[in-house]
Amino acid sequence: MSIVWDETLAVGDAAIDADHRRMMALIAELEAAATGSVDCNVVGATLGELARLTADHFTREEAFQAAIGFPDQEAHRASHVMLLRRLAAIMAHYADGSDEVRAGIIRTLGDSLATWLLTHIANNDMDFKDYVARR
Ligand SMILES: [Fe+2]
Repeated sequence: MSIVWDETLAVGDAAIDADHRRMMALIAELEAAATGSVDCNVVGATLGELARLTADHFTREEAFQAAIGFPDQEAHRASHVMLLRRLAAIMAHYADGSDEVRAGIIRTLGDSLATWLLTHIANNDMDFKDYVARR
């Protein structure tokens, strides 16, 4: 998969959309690492930046949902918490891993995060876009 932003992914809030674009750009870097076109040494830094941005983004997105009174906040938040835990586990595994372990992580990481983010936007974030449109 090659993750690229397009307007069909817009949820209609400028800050949230800007976060999603930046997250996609970082995930695209991880996808590029899987093909060997990015130095393995930069992957740890990219992963760290993605984890920080994702945590900040989820905080912003959850505050937005609270502000609009989105009814499905708890389930949505649970999905965010699961991804943050997964990212933390991957980062720890990567930091402590041998070259072989790191290579294994690099092979699948970008693709699996791309699938998660695109699925989450389509199935979860679009729900609050629809909610705003219906209010
Ligand atoms: Fe979300």
